[in-house]
Amino acid sequence: MRAQSLVLCCGILAAGPAAAADPAKIDWGKIKPTSLTLFYPGQSSYEWLRSAEHPGAQVVAGDGACLTCHKGSEKKLGAKLVKPNKLEPMPVKGKDGSKELKVQVAYDDKNSYWRFQWKTNARQPGIEYPYYRFDGKEWKVYGEPRLNKSVQEGKQAAIYEDRLTLMIDDGKVPGFAAQGCWLTCHTGERDMPGVASKDEAQKALKKNDVRKYLPASRSNPSDWSTVKSTDELAKIKAEGGFVDLVQWRAHRSNPMGGADDGYVLEYRSFDKGKNHFASNMDNEKKVPKFMYDAKKFKAKATTAKDVRKRDPFLIKGVNAVAFDPQAGWKEGDMVPRYFLQPAEDSAADNAGKGTWKNGVWTVVITRPLGLANPDDKALKEGGVYSVGFGVHDDNITTRGHHVAFPVTVGFGAKADIQAVKLP
Ligand code: HEC
Repeated sequence: MRAQSLVLCCGILAAGPAAAADPAKIDWGKIKPTSLTLFYPGQSSYEWLRSAEHPGAQVVAGDGACLTCHKGSEKKLGAKLVKPNKLEPMPVKGKDGSKELKVQVAYDDKNSYWRFQWKTNARQPGIEYPYYRFDGKEWKVYGEPRLNKSVQEGKQAAIYEDRLTLMIDDGKVPGFAAQGCWLTCHTGERDMPGVASKDEAQKALKKNDVRKYLPASRSNPSDWSTVKSTDELAKIKAEGGFVDLVQWRAHRSNPMGGADDGYVLEYRSFDKGKNHFASNMDNEKKVPKFMYDAKKFKAKATTAKDVRKRDPFLIKGVNAVAFDPQAGWKEGDMVPRYFLQPAEDSAADNAGKGTWKNGVWTVVITRPLGLANPDDKALKEGGVYSVGFGVHDDNITTRGHHVAFPVTVGFGAKADIQAVKLP
């Protein structure tokens, strides 16, 4: 059932600029994998790392590299940080402190190809995303990530998608090569100390929350509310002072054969165009926009007892039809929070395909070389890039991931990971 529907959707929809070459035909057995140890970082924010509590503060404040002092200590850091400690107020039971990520990179004249493998903590792939559930009157969110109190108290089911993320810099972001993702992790963000309220975030950012940002986007990097002016931000962006953010998502991009394309400067933003996914809530009518096509899904909705038992994806043009308010909804009926669609424009640059077998995800992301959009970091032959890798595993989001200290990836150039040129 599962394999069949995945094949159906991806065969039709994996178009886009990267579809020219077929990453499935690459002989990955010939490309030596690099194994990286990703670890659970807790709340080790930009601000904490520069505080008196961190013995490395002085070096970090002077743009020094984490690896100056932490080489080979990822496992130890993760084992400590995943347990109750001063940097983890919401420890997740049964979570692993570190994770081995196998990375292989190849390229040809058109594209770069990134293959990843990692073991999941759960015995199933995390292909679910929270739902809207009808309670007899209203459609309310069903399922939340494991860092949430409601899940830890047993009031909500633990549901979230698995993800693989790359943060890429081409040397234009000060400090990224030395400190990687940690430059973007700050007080005030979701699941961090001092979470910004919706009103505060609206006032400073015109957003409902605070997400990853780079130090250069603030007049005081340690105060998220000191956002620079639109003109100043536009100048930094035009000069390439942002990082690219590529995210493969097991629920919201994989069925479309994609990985999202985004970037981080003053916020975690998406590239221009249409994403692989969009909200399934009609905010005016307060009902979902789409339901399942009963002819394709066997029912117009799913229920809690079917969670993790079948492919949950709701795909426009494949198995979604317009929501019918008169369809006789019963308490407990559920539809996905997001529907899927083909991405467009700069948001459609990256292809991504993952399969889960025997507890291991194998994901291949294809990113074209030489992208010329203003929201992309172009990868080129001869180029060396600093990359931060992250994996969100076992029903978790925000900082509940495993992350790596930054490494360099080179295309026909010396680096920690050297991409192999394909014949
Ligand atoms: C000058 C050396 C130095 C540098 C540079 C440094 N650290 Fe540390 N860090 C330490 C020491 C020493 C500790 C105490 C625990 C230990 O020995 O691992 C520590 C502790 C930590 C902890 C808490 C672990 C615990 O035991 O509670 C985290 C998380 C951490 N560092 C992350 C980082 C990150 C991320 C960077 C780069 C942005 C960094 N450190 C840079 C020396 C350093």
